[in-house]
Amino acid sequence: MQLPDAWYVVASSDEIGKKPVAVDLFSQKFVLWRDSTGTVVMQSDVCPHRSASLSLGEVINNCITCPFHGFVFDTNGLCSFIPETGRPAPNLKLETFNTVERHGFVWLKRGENLPESPPWFDQLNEKLVSYQSIHEWPTHISRCVENQLDYAHLPFVHKRTIGHSVNVLGPRRIDCDEREIKMYVDAENSDIPTIRFIFPNLWLLTIKPEKFFQFIAFVPVAPGVTRLYLRAYQGFFTVPGLASLLGPVFNFSNSIILSEDRQVVLSQRPLDSSTTSDEKLFPSDRAIKFFRELWRLNT
Ligand code: FES
Ligand SMILES: [Fe+2]
Repeated sequence: MQLPDAWYVVASSDEIGKKPVAVDLFSQKFVLWRDSTGTVVMQSDVCPHRSASLSLGEVINNCITCPFHGFVFDTNGLCSFIPETGRPAPNLKLETFNTVERHGFVWLKRGENLPESPPWFDQLNEKLVSYQSIHEWPTHISRCVENQLDYAHLPFVHKRTIGHSVNVLGPRRIDCDEREIKMYVDAENSDIPTIRFIFPNLWLLTIKPEKFFQFIAFVPVAPGVTRLYLRAYQGFFTVPGLASLLGPVFNFSNSIILSEDRQVVLSQRPLDSSTTSDEKLFPSDRAIKFFRELWRLNT
């Protein structure tokens, strides 16, 4: 799958435990599990013997065992035991990937010349409580991202919820450099960007500075499938019991808003916006124009 080089979210930390989990990403199949130290192991989910899914197998003694013929692979992907021969097979290697776990996500670096650690929004600090919901949309990542950079849809798509009093005519400042797009809805009165987008996959909406944010990590599953990790971060109610009680409230309202977007975004053709040639962009599409330029320069 053709994508810009970047750090990509692979999974949320709480999705990965000792049992192997299948994760589809970049049109490939991966298996993720935790070794005895709790470190995430990410490997191809295609057994190098005869291509069965290792995620259907078991983790025993810090190794993953294929469900088909019982070949055993260690955390480095080396085949440490074949039942038929009773021996290891040093030449049989299961593709294994280095990941980093930060901010409640497992990350994979895809490409060279990238920073040592994944980028992050410094506003999202340890003092905030977060609530996560995961959504899978059958469309290309470009359409999902562009929707989150598009303020002119608010009074239409979200007329019954967050968009009922939004004026599309308001002045807006939009800045872009080679890694980030920033949108200021009220640039005259605030120098805090309302939306920050770290190209190509991390989005942050500031609703109340230091206190209330919405965050999305976009995960390219396949050219026609994108997974969204949507998180609300809040610093109003951080007492543990109360904070966790609010989870369903935030997730419910976020899911309603996202389902309003979903319907129209899934109707867009072609799925991959970089292959469109005849869309006419207007001033309110400036952030989308920047996104498309960055995409073109990086793919
Ligand atoms: S397919 Fe995995 S051991 Fe045969
Ligand atoms: Fe929306």
